[in-house]
Amino acid sequence: MTIPYPSSQPMSAITPVVPPSGASRPRLTFLGTGYLGATYAICFAELGYEVIGFDVDAEKIAKLAGGEVPFHEPGLDELLRRNLAAGRLRFSTDIAETAHFGDVHFICVGTPQRADGMSADLSYVEASVTGLAQNLDRRALIVGKSTVPVGTAEWIEQLVDKHADSQLGVEVAYSPEFLQEGFAVEDVLRPNRIVVGVKSEWANSMLYSAHKGVFDLAATEDREVPLVVTDFATAELVKVAANAFLATKISFINAMAEVCEASGGDVTQLARAIGYDPRIGNRFLQAGVGFGGGCLPKDIRAFQARAQELGAGEALRFLHEVDLINLRRRNRVLQLAAELLDRRYGPAGPDLSGTRIAVLGATFKPNSDDVRDAPSLAVAAQLAKAGADVRVYDPQGMENARRAQPDLTYSPDMIEAVRDADLVCVLTEWSDFRNADPEALARVVAGRRVVDGRNCLDSTLWVQAGWEYRGMGRP
Ligand code: UGA
Repeated sequence: MTIPYPSSQPMSAITPVVPPSGASRPRLTFLGTGYLGATYAICFAELGYEVIGFDVDAEKIAKLAGGEVPFHEPGLDELLRRNLAAGRLRFSTDIAETAHFGDVHFICVGTPQRADGMSADLSYVEASVTGLAQNLDRRALIVGKSTVPVGTAEWIEQLVDKHADSQLGVEVAYSPEFLQEGFAVEDVLRPNRIVVGVKSEWANSMLYSAHKGVFDLAATEDREVPLVVTDFATAELVKVAANAFLATKISFINAMAEVCEASGGDVTQLARAIGYDPRIGNRFLQAGVGFGGGCLPKDIRAFQARAQELGAGEALRFLHEVDLINLRRRNRVLQLAAELLDRRYGPAGPDLSGTRIAVLGATFKPNSDDVRDAPSLAVAAQLAKAGADVRVYDPQGMENARRAQPDLTYSPDMIEAVRDADLVCVLTEWSDFRNADPEALARVVAGRRVVDGRNCLDSTLWVQAGWEYRGMGRP
């Protein structure tokens, strides 16, 4: 049955329902305890819910159960330990226990780019929904939370129809997440909106109860969290549209950086000036080596692939350009390196043999240990491929970087990385690098040359300390 909802449901219009478990608040489970699921499980326990985080990875579950967050996210460790101690939060590899426990089950597994193309790999979604559905023994709501191609929630319904006992009345919903790594705790506890795609009054009501802790916290802080209640397709599209917009904004300013480079303009001043227009806004206008991470790059590709399948490929052709602009920025660092080191840039790139280059930053952004599709690490690998002796240092990402790029050389700290370097490339804007003393670094390098791949350094200070400075999109 499809009940049409207004696009924004007044909260007073939502009738509370008793959760199937009989508990006063719905019991929540989060399937997949990667970045998304672990953060949600921990934060929703903090909001007072009884929670199980489920994963098939026993090692990850053992870490979480032992009070250790398996990735770097400011503030999360403390919340994990507090909620484990309070007994509200458990972690499990037992799907039957998880299925029996929960009223609302959030699917938080990964949806990576497929190895054979641009579309999303839904095999983890399929496995988790199937396993859950087969083990359910009473009514429950299954909520998709991972980023998925539009149409996935309908497909999850079909999986549930196939694998769950039809007498139970299991329902499906979709509710996207918008958390940013480095700010994940804040983004989950204090989101700037909640979006739910539902097909029934019951699903809407259960999801509302599952988020009531978020609304209550906002009320105590005199804030409001807007709630958008909509259909499956719109809810799924909201997520990918938001990421596509953010990626486009970054590539827009990086395209302006290219024009600045050709014309002698300064993209940082340009961004500041256009950002004063509130219709444009100054956030996500930081030109540099471009966007990376586990979300924006794969999401814009999967979005194009899905649009093509639906016959709307033309509408998203511009996202291909967004991707290309983004990838071109990585080459720009190589061009600047060649220029500063006085090497020719031939058709196969520059020959940097005999040079030593320090790469500062391996993660895709600061305050994270995530190196997935990190522009910094990709550039480090390209510099090494061009013959340079590359030394990489990152405050949090060393372990993941070593795993992703085992052939690169890693230094234990910033000073060791830059020691005897002919060129320093700052490719992730960690505060350690932004605030580094150019005088002190000048004393240990072989040549005072710096590429500021994130436009995050005070160029005046660096130039005063005798450095030849190159930013991105700056004269
Ligand atoms: C992104 C979105 O911002 C979140 O809203 C979304 O929930 C998340 O993806 C997701 O889909 O799960 P995240 O991947 O954590 O979050 O990272 P962002 O803060 O968006 O940064 C992405 C990349 O863009 C980074 O490499 C960053 O350095 C780069 N960036 C960002 C720029 O190059 N310039 C900017 O002005 C801003």
